[in-house]
Amino acid sequence: MSFTILQKRELVPTLHQMEINAPRVARKAMPGQFVILRIDEYGERIPLTIADFDAQAGTITLIFQEIGKTTRQLASLAAGDSIADVAGPLGNPSAIEKFGTVVCVGGGVGIAPIFPIARALKSAGNRVISVIGARSADILFWEDRMNEASSELYITTDDGTKGHHGFVTDVVQNLLEHGEHDEHGERAIDRVIAIGPPVMMRAVAGVTKPFGVRTVVSLNPIMVDGTGMCGACRVLVGGVTKFACVDGPEFDAHEVDFTLLMSRLAMYLPEEKEALDCDLRSSVGEAAAEPTV
Ligand code: NAD
Ligand code: FES
Repeated sequence: MSFTILQKRELVPTLHQMEINAPRVARKAMPGQFVILRIDEYGERIPLTIADFDAQAGTITLIFQEIGKTTRQLASLAAGDSIADVAGPLGNPSAIEKFGTVVCVGGGVGIAPIFPIARALKSAGNRVISVIGARSADILFWEDRMNEASSELYITTDDGTKGHHGFVTDVVQNLLEHGEHDEHGERAIDRVIAIGPPVMMRAVAGVTKPFGVRTVVSLNPIMVDGTGMCGACRVLVGGVTKFACVDGPEFDAHEVDFTLLMSRLAMYLPEEKEALDCDLRSSVGEAAAEPTV
């Protein structure tokens, strides 16, 4: 069985949205879960969080950034093309219950996976305050979807081109310090969930820890099999080794060893760069070899 791409578009430069026909995955998908896909039988396996799903239509939506050889190849596919394997849904779903007031933080590409979580938390009766951030307004996406999925939405940009000029953590800090109080004057933020670059998730954890607010992050270490057998996705949480694919991907942010996560994520950067350079050289070679008319 192959998986047909139904729609594909570039949301902002190098960031792509793809809707794939995957009825069995769509039927079981829950917020917070991911798939591992392989473009063809020789392809690298890449984990991508399910950004949206429609059980009735049998489709899932993936958002990915063109950063290496495989994501560049994926970006070159169009509606009507097929992907060899889409394995999933994998990982544990997000905890969706009535917590009270929940702050959902999405940084950069992390806006895509935070969206279905915010939507489900709002449907479960929570007051959802979302904070989404991008480096600049021109690479911010899904503001409309996040607006619908949230009771309140804050936007930040690193360069000040939209919303608050600064990081998502500035808004989270402000909400914790001044924004949310119950009738007794106590802090009334019950939970924070943050998805984005590890440096952002570490910073969110640092902001919420002194306030004692339960904070959850979704980790994205290197993955291979996605079923707990290879050990590639190991992370350290509370001093204990966990496999993000089967024990996560969500963990208590105050217990995660982000330094180890970041060093393991950087482990294969030279090989990834070499593969990308090689791919770029061969496409330049192919273009040069093409007959001119
Ligand atoms: P980015 O570098 O553009 O940062 C996005 C936002 O995060 C910024 O606008 C800012 O508000 C915040 N941020 C960044 N650095 C910060 C810091 N030091 N302190 C406080 N806030 C900070 O993000 P990007 O380029 O879109 O990020 C891509 C990364 O996100 C990749 O590493 C990717 O693997 C990761 N990602 C993770 C998941 C996941 O499931 N955890 C999902 C998608 C993407
Ligand atoms: Fe292999 Fe998690 S990806 S153990």
